[in-house]
Amino acid sequence: MILLEKATHPITGDVFVPGDKSISHRSIMFGALAEGTTEITGFLQSADCLSTIECFKKLGILIDHSIRPTNGVPTITVHGKGLHGLKASDSTLYTGNSGTTTRLMSGILAAQPFDSLITGDMSIEKRPMNRIITPLSMMGADISSVLGNDCAPLSIKGGKKLRGITYRNPIASAQVKSCILLAGLYADGETVVYEPALSRNHSEIMLASFGADVHNEVARDGSAAAILHPGMPLHGNKINVPGDISSAAYFIAAALIVPGSELLIRNVGINNTRCGILTVLKQMGADITLLNINESGEPRADILVKYSELHGNQNKKFEIGGKDIPTMIDELPMVAILAATGNFDTIIKDAAELKVKESDRIATVVENLTAMGCDIEATDDGMIIHGGKPLHGADIHTHNDHRLAMSFAIAALAAEGATRIMDDACVGISYPTFFKDLQNLL
Ligand code: S3P
Repeated sequence: MILLEKATHPITGDVFVPGDKSISHRSIMFGALAEGTTEITGFLQSADCLSTIECFKKLGILIDHSIRPTNGVPTITVHGKGLHGLKASDSTLYTGNSGTTTRLMSGILAAQPFDSLITGDMSIEKRPMNRIITPLSMMGADISSVLGNDCAPLSIKGGKKLRGITYRNPIASAQVKSCILLAGLYADGETVVYEPALSRNHSEIMLASFGADVHNEVARDGSAAAILHPGMPLHGNKINVPGDISSAAYFIAAALIVPGSELLIRNVGINNTRCGILTVLKQMGADITLLNINESGEPRADILVKYSELHGNQNKKFEIGGKDIPTMIDELPMVAILAATGNFDTIIKDAAELKVKESDRIATVVENLTAMGCDIEATDDGMIIHGGKPLHGADIHTHNDHRLAMSFAIAALAAEGATRIMDDACVGISYPTFFKDLQNLL
């Protein structure tokens, strides 16, 4: 349990956040499938990414941690074995709390000559896997839910020849898209994934940098396409992972709600498929400036945030929905809390995906903001926040969801009285040093 009080001083100075989780996972996976070594700096050493490392070690990949003698930078080296170099694991592949590991790895395993069994923790065993079982089966894979409930454990039988497909995903999901593209590396013929809006495209960017023939397009009907042609070998690479905008979001919010704050968050990934939070907060009146923008590869910048009184539009109503949602899906709990501190109503819609994250984030955000005194209602695809009521301290039940723990730690800084974050250890999923870094800023 962590006890937090209302902030008494402005938040100032500068801070680095750990590496991007999505990019870190992919650097291990694609490194494993590449020929030769891949060197990764800025890798996120968190429970989720360590699950990916452990799984690939079980599949026969050597992965070293070292400190570069020349500059003292921690480096992960993945000794890739090429697309056809994985070996069968002699036990179940355990993905912990990580949906990205579970879903992306399933795409790779579906194309191997050996059988696999893959599962994770209690949360993973409740999350929907039919979204990958359906397209992988269309490709000719033999993948099934062991308990027949469309969830993990998943049994994946090897030795299947996969065929390329054109798949129209009704939801924008980078995990589903990436799973299909990874299977597509082994398929005969083109693989195309359409989605209603472009989800994070780290797989496309990084696979292309490893030598794969893959790109994004906007289709005539406005949907987003990822197109992959198999046949190109992946080659070893050097990856420098930028800071995670999803982790930066907590400090952006802290600086926005604590009067007098001015904070610089350095070297944060600003891929535009991830930046919805910046766009939406600026529309709400946040003073956010990007400095030192570097556009090469995965774009990155320093983010300067100054305390701002957030406002809605003229009608005192603010709506977040549509194509913005996939670009800020993991930041919506934090944005909901920021909205609660503003003197206006916020409607979050088109966000039913929140229900199938590490917790049901519509229910868990509404439960905890209500406990803090906010007037908030859950809807089928989001929530309506009637801002303006002062927040007070409360016991926060994280449901072991890391993003809940961190978002409500920031809410505590704006609340009268004490807030207790129960089950705080879950921050280790994506940001093990979060509470230490936060304390350093207070
Ligand atoms: C992720 C994609 C998103 C996101 C998750 C990480 C990824 O999930 O919520 O935290 O790394 O591809 P969905 O693909 O389910 O939207």
